[in-house]
Amino acid sequence: MSNEPVALDHVLSTFDALWSPRVITQVNDYDVRVAKVEGEHVWHVHEHTDEFFLVLRGELSIALRENGAERTVTLPQGSAFTVPRGTEHRPASPGGAAILMLEPTGTLSVGDRHEEIPDHVDITTGHAL
Ligand code: NI
Repeated sequence: MSNEPVALDHVLSTFDALWSPRVITQVNDYDVRVAKVEGEHVWHVHEHTDEFFLVLRGELSIALRENGAERTVTLPQGSAFTVPRGTEHRPASPGGAAILMLEPTGTLSVGDRHEEIPDHVDITTGHAL
């Protein structure tokens, strides 16, 4: 991990892979990750941790299954949202987006439980820059 400042625009210019987060720094035992996304991720759940999203570019939607019902939150650029632990969710972005996520180091991108993972979704705890 670098002890130099991190320019997000530069980081985002260094990779094209979708749904494949990069760890830009750590804060105590949390990763700060950025990812480029487009299309749909996969329904999954993190049983033991909340997951924070901040939209850097574009627009992200997150479908949520809560109390037996489903709803979708829409996050335009500059919006933040936290998916509560134990909540099934599926991020998506028809037009493409760049997002920043905050979650405990070691958190798997597809959660502890998930539906069948499509080929375009990376199964990772985050890649180094
Ligand atoms: Ni998640």
